[in-house]
Amino acid sequence: MLHRRRFLQLGSLGLTSFSFAGFRSAGAARKPIVISTWDTGIAANAAAWQVLRNGGRALDAVEKGVMVTEASQNCCVGLGANPDRDGFVTLDSCIMDEHANCGSVAFLERIKHPVSVARRVMEKTPHVMLVGSGAQQFAVAEGFPLEPQVLSPEADKAYKNWLLKSEYKPVINIENSKNQTAYAPTRFENGEWNHDTIGMVAMDAQGNLSGSCTTSGMGFKMRGRLGDSPIIGAGLFVDNEVGAATATGQGEDVIRICGSHLVVELMRQGHSPENACKKAVERIIRIKGNKAKDIQVGFIAINKQGEYGGYCIQKGFNFAVCYADDKNFLVDGKYIL
Ligand code: GLY
Repeated sequence: MLHRRRFLQLGSLGLTSFSFAGFRSAGAARKPIVISTWDTGIAANAAAWQVLRNGGRALDAVEKGVMVTEASQNCCVGLGANPDRDGFVTLDSCIMDEHANCGSVAFLERIKHPVSVARRVMEKTPHVMLVGSGAQQFAVAEGFPLEPQVLSPEADKAYKNWLLKSEYKPVINIENSKNQTAYAPTRFENGEWNHDTIGMVAMDAQGNLSGSCTTSGMGFKMRGRLGDSPIIGAGLFVDNEVGAATATGQGEDVIRICGSHLVVELMRQGHSPENACKKAVERIIRIKGNKAKDIQVGFIAINKQGEYGGYCIQKGFNFAVCYADDKNFLVDGKYIL
């Protein structure tokens, strides 16, 4: 399962060499554990791990973790990300805990941490989802500052480049087609792609599961477009009896199969996290037929035993796994096409 691991040094992320966890007696679940999508997951996992290693709740870990990515100006998540085709950054996020409590915000503008607003929706309202100006109004009422409506320098450059053709041809995260910069939602900088989404799932020392997912969505998308990331069951699903899963990539195709819910249900039927992710990817490929080669979708999952796995449509997806002070590493997702 753990093929082609690339272990990364954690010193630069401020983690100590103090060994707390990662110890497992035979048959015991590996916990705590946190996994998240893409290489940006390394820094996010490191923040989540600080919560988990101190006995904190998985819910707090998955919020703190993805906040790191949301705050990054050089990433396609958060306010530094690519705008929609009208030039506005709109953010989607959701969070879910071990009691099936969940909260979500979508089409949210000018708020730095949509995942924290999603958590407030979960904890302070009788609802699950708030969108658009209503979500923003709620965030401001809850004390979240309204940030200036300006594009980051990188997003401004990418948007101006896109405007040259203004061609609406959304394609998402196909790393092996690096000539697609005119439309791509991701940015190619310093030899690295930045990705559209971070999804994170975790199990704490008490054995409870939680997850979060946050994104700016497809770059240069139609105004008002939502993907899978704010939709419970599509971009994220947690069942404390079974496991948790999250998704990245072309949201429309994740929604079509209720992807993350499907992965958890497959784990309930006895599939390993990796095999459950693979079966969900196969279902998308079956539906898409020839068009599957034009898209990327990746799933990651953990189960109650602390086993983890991921699968994607095509080469280029990876995810970050952390279960000890000195174990925060990238795993290349296995792929089908
Ligand atoms: N997976 C992110 C999106 O499609 O918006």
